[in-house]
Parts: sequence; C-alpha cells; structure tokens
Amino acid sequence: MTSPITQIIPEIGSRFIDNWFVKSASNHESVLRITLERSDGDQVVWRLQRAETPGPRSPFDTSGWQIAYENTSVAYDQLIPCGQAWMNLVQLHGSTLSSAWTTTTNDTWQTRIQAELLDQPQRSVRLGDLLRPEELPKFACTLPWTRLEASQGGFIGPCCLEYQRGRWPNDDSPAALWNGPALQAFRRTLANHQAPMATCRPTCPVLLAGNERAENVRIYGGSAASLQAQVRSIESLLRGDSIVSGWPSQVCLTVTSYCNYDCLMCPHGEEGRIDDQLTPSFYAGLTQMLEGVCILELNGGEPLASPYLRGFLEEIDSNQYSHLRINLITNGSYLSEKQLERFEKVPWGNLTFSLNAATAATYKLVNRGLEFSRIQAHLEAVHAVRRQVAHRANVTYSMVLLLANFHEIEAFFDLAQRDGADVRYLLPFRDRHGSSLMTQRVAMETAQLALERVADRLERQNRMRQSRDVRANAQILAQRIQAGVFQAL
Ligand SMILES: C[S@@+](CC[C@H](N)C(=O)[O-])C[C@H]1O[C@@H](n2cnc3c(N)ncnc32)[C@H](O)[C@@H]1O
Ligand code: SF4
Repeated sequence: MTSPITQIIPEIGSRFIDNWFVKSASNHESVLRITLERSDGDQVVWRLQRAETPGPRSPFDTSGWQIAYENTSVAYDQLIPCGQAWMNLVQLHGSTLSSAWTTTTNDTWQTRIQAELLDQPQRSVRLGDLLRPEELPKFACTLPWTRLEASQGGFIGPCCLEYQRGRWPNDDSPAALWNGPALQAFRRTLANHQAPMATCRPTCPVLLAGNERAENVRIYGGSAASLQAQVRSIESLLRGDSIVSGWPSQVCLTVTSYCNYDCLMCPHGEEGRIDDQLTPSFYAGLTQMLEGVCILELNGGEPLASPYLRGFLEEIDSNQYSHLRINLITNGSYLSEKQLERFEKVPWGNLTFSLNAATAATYKLVNRGLEFSRIQAHLEAVHAVRRQVAHRANVTYSMVLLLANFHEIEAFFDLAQRDGADVRYLLPFRDRHGSSLMTQRVAMETAQLALERVADRLERQNRMRQSRDVRANAQILAQRIQAGVFQAL
C-alpha cells in the first residue's frame, strides 16, 4: 500500500482493535479490501469504497462511504465494534483514503503480491482479494495447481486418495511427478469442467464444499524466489494449463505406514511396514522444490519413525526457506529433548500430538506405546523450545473419541489449556477392538454433553473456529442418538 493509507490503517500484523489484527490489505480499482484476523484465526474481509448511490446499504455505511464485510462465519454482533471503528476512520480520514487510491489502481496482482508479501512469511492473501470474480477461473477445485500429495501405498495425486477415482504411481522425483501424467490428467479434467469426472469422485468433500475454488487459493509471504514460484503456478492456474511452471505451494506426505505404537483404534501399528517409507531420493527431489513449497504436511503411520524423514528434517535450514512451514501429526514418541536439538532449524508450523488421553492410565489403555510420563517430558521440551524461538509453532493436542477415553473429554481440554495448546477431537472411524464410541448410546450422550461444554468454554474465550469444530462433533453425536444409529462410522 502507498503511504497515505498506511498512515491511517494500522500496519499489517498490528492490532486494529481489541483482538483483531490487520492480516492483509489491498487497494484495487477504488476498493480497499482489508482482511482482519482475530487471535483465534477467524478472518473477516472488510471492503471500503466511495458510495456511488446515496443512502446506506450496509449498517456501517457513513459519510458517503460504503463499508461492508464479505461472507464470514463470524457472528454479526462480534463484527459491530470493527464496523464502528471503520466508520470513525472514514469520517476522520476519508479524503486521504480517496486520494491514495489514484496512485495504486494500476497495480497488477503480481506487483501487489510483491508489495504485501515480500519477506513477510507470517502473512498470506487470498487470490479472491487480488482479482475480481470475473478474472478468476470457475474450476470446481484448484488443488491440482497448488498441491501435491504422496499417499500410502506408493500413490500420487493432488489430494487424499479417497477422493480420487484412479491410482497413479509415485514412481519418479516429486518435481517430475508435479507435471507428470497424474497431475496433468487432474488439471485437464478440472479446466475442461468435465462431468462426470474421470479423475475425481463425485463424493469428494472438497468438490462438494467448493472450498478450494480459485478465490480461496492462498499466496504465502516469503522470499522473492518463493513469491515468484507461487506467481508462476497461479498464472498457470488462471490459464488452465496442464503443465505448471511454478511449484506446489502445499505438499502432503504419508511418510510411512509403519508405526511404533499400536493404538487401540488404529491399524498402523499392526499392519504398517517401514519398507514403504519415502526414500532419500524422494526427499532429495523434494528439496529441489522447497523454494516454492510453503506448507509441508507430514503424516503416517508414525512419520518420525522413518529415519529418512528424520535425516531430511535435520538438514533443513529455516533461514534458507523463510516461507516454509512444516506441519506434523505425531504420537510424540520420537521428539525427545535430544531429537528436538537435532531439529533445531526445522520451521515448524503446527505440531499435532495425538495423546487421546488426559491421564497415564487411559494413555496406556489407548495408545499402547511409551509411558505417559515420557511423552509429557517430550511435550515439556517442545513447549520450552516454543518459548525461546521467535517464530512460535502452534501445538494441538488431539483425541479420538473412544469408549476408553470419553470420560476425559473435559480433562483433556484442561490439559491443553494448561500447556497453551489448541485442542482437536476426532470421531473414530471403524471399530477396531470394539473401541468406537459410536456404538453405545450412553457413552455418546455423555460425550455429546462434554463436547458442548468444551465448545462453550472455547466460545467464551473467543476461540470460535475450535469451538465450531468441537460443536460439529457434538451435533453429529446428537443426530445419531436421535436417529437411533449406534454403529461405527
Ligand atoms: C493415523 S495417525 C498418524 C500420525 C501419528 N502416528 C499420530 O498418531 O498422530 C493420524 C491421526 O489419525 C488419528 N486416528 C487413528 N485412528 C483413528 C480412527 N480409527 N479414527 C479416527 N482417527 C484416527 C490419530 O489419533 C492421529 O491423530
Ligand atoms: S500412533 Fe498414530 S499411527 Fe500409530 S497406532 Fe497410534 S494413531 Fe496409529
């Protein structure tokens, strides 16, 4: 943004009011779009423009200005203080805002990306905030232009294997696979709006929810090279190319099917094998792409059980890839203090620890791995590192809801609170060892009420996204109880 605006609107990353922070701002064709983010991660895009027609059209319109917010799930009463702050701001500084536009309206989206995101790894913008709707392709899903996933069993694609119709072998380097037959086929299908789709199942939840349409593509802040790589991929997306000249901004890896635990509800401990782990040559190929990869997701089996992954992570230098965040889902058993030291330069984004229990007795019953006290020591080491480093990784504690642990739902939340961690509850798939919560009415009723209480507590703390996720699980339980469905998912 040009200086007159930055004198009026707080700088990106700083507080707007209360717990709302300025996430991004763009100024295009006389419309100023400012994304505000609340400390719980909820975002609202505000649109400020000179009113063309007299008379208020939104409750916040004032002094010849339209002040509107774009679709958001944040409740209206929580938007009122921001709306009022914008009203005050345009009443005081409206003329300065107007004059600032004339200097920037000819910016291209590529130059606005540079202006907003260069060397700003903590920021991101939506493509829908950079381009008008008519400039965006109408593809039902954009993942084939932004994402590469290596799935269990040696398969490759843009998304979860369950969403795909065919099976494509992971038989080359990641860079070659990115423009190989699989990804090209997905791109052709989606760019040509083919239905029924040869590549994607009609039941794919991404397709059904439409949440990976072009307006939701995110561009992440970082070095000039990383922005360049993302811009090239987006240019390919806008043209509907089947060959993409940039790199995927997201890579998701099932590192190995092997696991050193044998959790009650999970088949990996019994069925997983280490000989399917991704190879050193795969990681060498991945390294070639890292200048463009902004999010690397690691799952398994137990990802850290793979010595090849540990070797790759030990070599990564966050200083070299300021835009990169690595998200890991783990049982935590390998993250000893010593191992954490070897991972010193890993740019962790989110660390999800699957604890599934709030007490040692339940941990032993469900997770069937190390002693709870050892895992707690590992967690303490993780939290100590988090306190020291400038970029704080987000930590989430995860619990699959089972007959063995539902009585600890609230205690689990207390544990996460104590450690400054987010919380995630998952409904169990299948019914391994008769462990599923979904088969017994009384357990489901008790769990539903406990989840509602956790959701209420999260809401009182203004952690709306987590509250919604927790309540969604409570609602699924309530619906099944009401319908008398007591069988595993
Ligand atoms: C398969 S694990 C792999 C990563 C790692 N080993 C871990 O436990 O976090 C990924 C996630 O799936 C969850 N999970 C395991 N079995 C499940 C089941 N039957 N239903 C739903 N989630 C399950 C785990 O708790 C974990 O959060
Ligand atoms: S630690 Fe993770 S992968 Fe291993 S058995 Fe438990 S849930 Fe499954």
